[in-house]
Amino acid sequence: MKILVIGSGGREHALAWKISQSPRVDQVFVAPGNAGTARDVENIAIAETDFEQLIEFVKKNDVSITVVGPEAPLSAGIVDVFEKEGLKIFGPNQEAAQMESSKVYCKDLLRKADIPTADYQVFHDAESASHFVQNRYADDAGDVPLVIKADGLAAGKGVVVCHNKIEAIEAIDQIARQKVFGEAGSQILIEERLDGEEASVLAITDGKTIVTLPAAQDHKPAFDGDKGPNTGGMGAYCPTPSVSDEQMNWIEEHVLVPTVHSMKIEGCRFKGLLYAGLMMTRQGPKVLEYNVRFGDPECQPLLTRLKSDIVDLIEATIDGTLDQIEPLQWDTRPSICVVMASEGYPGSYKKGLEISGLDEVEKMEDVKVFHAGTKLVNGKVLTNGGRVLGVTATGNSVSAAKLLAYTAVQKIRWPGVWCRKDIADKAIYQKS
Ligand code: AMP
Ligand code: GLY
Repeated sequence: MKILVIGSGGREHALAWKISQSPRVDQVFVAPGNAGTARDVENIAIAETDFEQLIEFVKKNDVSITVVGPEAPLSAGIVDVFEKEGLKIFGPNQEAAQMESSKVYCKDLLRKADIPTADYQVFHDAESASHFVQNRYADDAGDVPLVIKADGLAAGKGVVVCHNKIEAIEAIDQIARQKVFGEAGSQILIEERLDGEEASVLAITDGKTIVTLPAAQDHKPAFDGDKGPNTGGMGAYCPTPSVSDEQMNWIEEHVLVPTVHSMKIEGCRFKGLLYAGLMMTRQGPKVLEYNVRFGDPECQPLLTRLKSDIVDLIEATIDGTLDQIEPLQWDTRPSICVVMASEGYPGSYKKGLEISGLDEVEKMEDVKVFHAGTKLVNGKVLTNGGRVLGVTATGNSVSAAKLLAYTAVQKIRWPGVWCRKDIADKAIYQKS
């Protein structure tokens, strides 16, 4: 069969690479893809939100299944449009995608289902939100443990973790008065700030059965030691010891099952990948957010370890037969992904710089370079984004996987390239 993957990041390269290993698959297309997907499979020049052209392509080329990588087409209703045409597509419909596209929708559902999450209040304008902060912390010049969030999608940037009143008021002003994230800021959330280690628990569900994947850990801040501005994720590894087997069972029972169940009761069946972003607090795991697609870069180490055929899993999710699927098989070895980024990211950066060293790394065993912001021009691989590559390695221990990943990273060069040097250190230097 033929499969189309929608998107152009590292996650989509990993999905296309894994799908292409299925003996059931003859051809994989990626729209619009990057230099990595152009090399491994086949790119088609259609934008991820151009539903009309995507449907035309799928029909003309006999594509059996479409797999959606990013949140933008999901929240714009790509699944609804494809299903109306009778086409098979992996991902939640527009209504269910609100779990990610509206933080207010997500938090209200969590509260109603009694799922542990940070306390929160919703405001519709800057005045009432500022008033709340000023009143509540009238005499407080010190730490103000609040997080200010824009309701809608803001490319991971609509969240400000605050440490004092000035930061909180400034964030409210930016989101709700200056509307730096546009309509995403028409509702604003003020949340209690949680402390602990973060973990990503991803699960595949057809709305009835839930298949939980091993826990992963992302590294969102730009610089070593979790310093600097937030990014889309500078690296990830899997599995993570931050979530024990016992905690994983607890998360399934008290977080994932009630979430999927409550959505079903609301008449909003979730089909696809549900990603719980968790804070492992002293009171237990609490949900920070839900995403409705694979995490990027969590997807890269996860799929590198998956031994089962991902196409069986995808098809059973679409068909509602996940209860009949064999238990997933995993490589027992840990895997880590180090993101190599452009100078200036997450701020502005140059594009079009030539990347060298990729051929040498391709020969290394247990290493796979997933492309994100790259472009193939006249046979050369050029930078084309902030997060450029995700160098992913598997080893007998987290330390061995880390060493291998960074050995590969050192062979790849372009002007201004940088990466975090401490990906997975939380697992390696874990306090006992
Ligand atoms: P979100 O998009 O809601 O996951 O937020 C992005 C990042 O902001 C998370 O990965 C956390 O690092 C941080 N964050 C969000 N909500 C909270 C919270 N209530 N307490 C502490 N940190 C948070
Ligand atoms: N790695 C974080 C995300 O995909 O949202």
